[in-house]
Amino acid sequence: MNKIMITVSNVSKTYKNKNTKKLVVDNISFDIKQGEIVGYIGKNGAGKSTTIKMLCGILYPDKGCISIDGISPQKNRLKSNLNIGVIFGQRTQLWWDLPLKDSFRILKAIYKVSDIEFNERLEYFDEIFQIKSLLSATVRTLSLGERMKADIVASLIHNPKVLFMDEPTIGLDVYSKVKMREAIQKINQKYNTTIMITTHDFRDVEELCERVIILDKGKIIYDNNIHKFTKKYSDEKKVIISIENQIQMMHLINSLQNKINDIDINFDDKNSFIIITYKKEKKKLMRILNLINENGDLPDFTVVDKPLENMIEDLYRMEHK
Ligand SMILES: Nc1ncnc2c1ncn2[C@@H]1O[C@H](COP(=O)(O)OP(=O)(O)OP(=O)(O)O)[C@@H](O)[C@H]1O
Ligand SMILES: [Mg+2]
Repeated sequence: MNKIMITVSNVSKTYKNKNTKKLVVDNISFDIKQGEIVGYIGKNGAGKSTTIKMLCGILYPDKGCISIDGISPQKNRLKSNLNIGVIFGQRTQLWWDLPLKDSFRILKAIYKVSDIEFNERLEYFDEIFQIKSLLSATVRTLSLGERMKADIVASLIHNPKVLFMDEPTIGLDVYSKVKMREAIQKINQKYNTTIMITTHDFRDVEELCERVIILDKGKIIYDNNIHKFTKKYSDEKKVIISIENQIQMMHLINSLQNKINDIDINFDDKNSFIIITYKKEKKKLMRILNLINENGDLPDFTVVDKPLENMIEDLYRMEHK
């Protein structure tokens, strides 16, 4: 059995300004085992980043306690920092005006990483991120995707036991997201790093995490296996088709309505597209696409998941019925 790496017990946080008080994390508790990748999700403002900041020791909880590998990040921040790597996708921890390699060297010195270990890790990160080609570039000139890779490498130079990733895929294109997920998986496997990741992209969670914790208005409303969650709430998908020819469009809508059960059709004839919403079930997509194909050449189409936010809303509604 893997040991418990992160413990959060009855933690709350209120932000206080001159006249206002806002409870944003409300009595949350959970344990995370070594080597787990856990998705920490919730709508904007749910309290995710606040939680991550408390886990890193940047913020203090009003009550409750936190332990990372047996150390309190609040009581012993310096020691705890050695065990922690953190990435805030919205911000960089790199030195903006310096070449990337200088940031890495500074971090190497701060964390007292030996030359051998440092070089070994750079080699490895070059394999998965092609990081070496970026070393001479000034950080401010890096593209968003390059900077994100560089930030991840920076957070891992001291090989921390725990990695907190606050929206590591934000703003990345689809291809870079895939690459990023592969890299996160590899790092987790090679170093058995415990990873907590927040994101608004359900694909990130679906592909990386066995377990999700869902936060809503500061409270944990779900903490369980991802498959149970998706089975229940990721039941809907949409196919978006673009069709220029209006007659063809009407004809298609007609035959979809007549021949396929339980679908919702919305269309926009000005912008020439149809949105078909269907319940995920075996061969349903195939039947829809076949029918479209029978109505002429298969046009451009995209299949989209139900947005993560909608799934969380459904979950909330079920829990509060
Ligand atoms: N320093 C602060 N002072 C006052 N209120 C704050 C402060 N930081 C965050 N908040 C508020 O606390 C709430 C939770 O913020 P937090 O950043 O933790 O949300 P989040 O779940 O990370 O959201 P997002 O998905 O948008 O990143 C928000 O309503 C936010 O406005
Ligand atoms: Mg946030």
